[in-house]
Amino acid sequence: MINTVGVIGLGTMGAGIVEVFAKAGLSVIAVDGSAELAERGKGFLTKSLGRAVSKGKLSESERDEIVGRVAFGDDLAAMKDADLVIEAVPELLEIKTSIFTTLDDIVRDDCVLATNTSSLSITEIAKSTKEPSRVIGMHFFNPAPVLPLVEVIHSLLTDVKLVEDVRELAVRLGKKPVVVGDRAGFVANALLIAYLARSIRAYETGLASREDLDAAMAAGVGFPMGPLTLCDLIGLDVVHEVCGVLYDATHDPSVASPPLLRQMVAAGYLGRKSGKGFYTYEAAGSGTLV
Ligand code: 3HC
Repeated sequence: MINTVGVIGLGTMGAGIVEVFAKAGLSVIAVDGSAELAERGKGFLTKSLGRAVSKGKLSESERDEIVGRVAFGDDLAAMKDADLVIEAVPELLEIKTSIFTTLDDIVRDDCVLATNTSSLSITEIAKSTKEPSRVIGMHFFNPAPVLPLVEVIHSLLTDVKLVEDVRELAVRLGKKPVVVGDRAGFVANALLIAYLARSIRAYETGLASREDLDAAMAAGVGFPMGPLTLCDLIGLDVVHEVCGVLYDATHDPSVASPPLLRQMVAAGYLGRKSGKGFYTYEAAGSGTLV
């Protein structure tokens, strides 16, 4: 039974995942690389729960109970008590494999090791551990507290029983799990990122203004937001990194990171989280347009 969960990396996705687990009543050990980053993660959680309180969807005492289930810190050694650890650090294989190798010596033998990778190989991450059969992908979608999908990704090495356990855990969290194999981008990102990259290229070539391009897909196709708004939500650095992984795996030019995207990332225009992307926001982390 999974009751205590560790989350490593408390950026947009990690903090959202902490919220999902804590709201479902699980104890959470939330760790980032420094005390400042752990504090920032706590800030993301309290801000998100604060919004729910101000809308009357959560009482103050419920908010306090949820926050009280989470122990924030900067030491991976705290993961020794976890039944499952999920990693949500930046999309770089070397960082992820180094964390998994370290975790191997900290966690219990029966602890499940999960990764929220957007596109990297579960098999390669699993191979960095002593027991690859306990490594699995558990991929949430941004914003994690809102979107129901969780891709449960198994490698050839993953224990078959574990796939079912993690699928059941996702249901317990109120999510919609889908079980998928280990291919770059899995299902959702393999399809989505090609669409986003094409949209950026269409914008770059002057096909339409950013507003009209977004309106075409939101008002015409019924997507909840247009592709450039969605890139800003996901983070332009994340879109760029996933493009790189998909391109390396497939050599499909349609998923190569578009030149404009590369320049924007180099300039520090990362979307909502930096306050500027295809659109400009009131402040870093705000969804409100200027
Ligand atoms: N964190 C927590 N909650 C949030 C949130 C956030 N960042 N953004 C919105 N919400 C909540 C709101 O508080 C609101 O809650 P309520 O219904 O309880 O009041 C609810 O979501 C709806 O929000 P809004 O009314 O403000 O706005 P919308 O109805 O337009 O919904 C949206 C916002 C949920 C972001 C919606 O536009 C949407 O689903 N967009 C598409 C997002 C998407 O496609 N994400 C997938 C990205 S790909 C990915 O993550 C994979 C990765 O690997 C790259």
